Amino acid sequence: MQVAARLAALCAALLLGPQAWADAAAEAAFAKSKNCLACHAIDKKVVGPAFKAVADKYRQDPAALDRLALKVRQGGNGAWGVVYMPANAQVSPAESKRLVAWVLGLK
Ligand code: HEC
Repeated sequence: MQVAARLAALCAALLLGPQAWADAAAEAAFAKSKNCLACHAIDKKVVGPAFKAVADKYRQDPAALDRLALKVRQGGNGAWGVVYMPANAQVSPAESKRLVAWVLGLK
């Protein structure tokens, strides 16, 4: 998992360019520390959807940040299939928003 998280951070960094390298690595590490990367990867489906696919789906949706930040904490299904995302009660509302903002900003 650690290797996968590093690779994910590296891929994000390569795509975003050198200036964003440190930020991208820090945000990916934060997501890993909150267990998100147990089920998600940046650009491939694992248990949950690829985070880049999530970003693509909601790019035109200004309400997505708040809605998804709530869903991450409460869990749910139906947007990507029948598999449930369990509630991630280990993240605070602010942390959830930070994580979702990172996800939605992926290109
Ligand atoms: C046990 C596996 C698991 C974990 C851990 C997990 N997720 Fe998910 N996640 C899923 C699944 C499955 C879905 C698809 C749910 C659906 O179809 O609505 C999902 C969907 C999502 C979505 C898109 C929701 C939507 O309505 O489109 C976001 C954003 C997301 N996860 C972020 C996170 C973040 C951030 C974390 C860490 C705090 C996290 N996930 C942890 C399994 C997981």
